[in-house]
Amino acid sequence: MSTNKGNHRDASDEDSSVHIETRMIPIFVMGKRYEVPETLTVMKALEYAGYKFLRGCGCRDGKCGACATVFRKPGDYHIYNALACQTQVEPNMYLTQIPFYPANRAQYRFEELSSDPEEVFKLYPELFRCVACNACTKICPMDVQVMDVIASVKQGNIAKAAELSFDCIQCGLCVSRCMGELPQYHIAQLCRRIYGAKIAPRAEHLATTARVVKREGQYEAILQKLMNMDEQELRRLYVEREIEPELAGEEWRPENRDYLMEFND
Ligand code: FES
Repeated sequence: MSTNKGNHRDASDEDSSVHIETRMIPIFVMGKRYEVPETLTVMKALEYAGYKFLRGCGCRDGKCGACATVFRKPGDYHIYNALACQTQVEPNMYLTQIPFYPANRAQYRFEELSSDPEEVFKLYPELFRCVACNACTKICPMDVQVMDVIASVKQGNIAKAAELSFDCIQCGLCVSRCMGELPQYHIAQLCRRIYGAKIAPRAEHLATTARVVKREGQYEAILQKLMNMDEQELRRLYVEREIEPELAGEEWRPENRDYLMEFND
């Protein structure tokens, strides 16, 4: 494996009048020592050290759960975990990645399932092996109360399980620590699917929009116009589009309302 240290660029390379000294720190990846800039995330430090991600990297933004990492610190018996793309390196951390951890996923035809919790019990009977040790909650990098999710399912409260697990990014770290050998994140995902499709009230405005798009052809002309544009023109349109400001409130509306559907609540 080669390293790319000679090619490393940081913010100071962009403007030669600004020189920011970056301290190098040692980290250990699967037992091997590397010197990396202290400002990097674990993911960038691994790349700096010469690793190339084929798996174990997706969004780079804390959303996809592909970059689960475990590590230890010197003189500390705890095992730590984090998302590699969201965590800054620390001196002497001993780390490795767990980009995938095997977990049984039940097979089902979703359209044949009802919202009865018994369906989840039948598909995942191992639910009842949970010993409430809470190791799954402790390792969750998204602070999901995983044990409470499982407790809610056992109580037959699919809506609560769906709500409590809303931030789950399917990294699978919970499974890696479970004494009862449960696939928590698959169970929670099934609950969210059942809740979304079979329990949550239908969104009226969505049905209206779908009807307008599909049957009333309100957007036919603009879609046709877009399809006839060449790539250059499409790119220009995309770059010049009006973007909702980051902190815009609910009342924000674009200047051009030609294609905006308004709903009265
Ligand atoms: S790469 Fe997607 S969460 Fe880290």
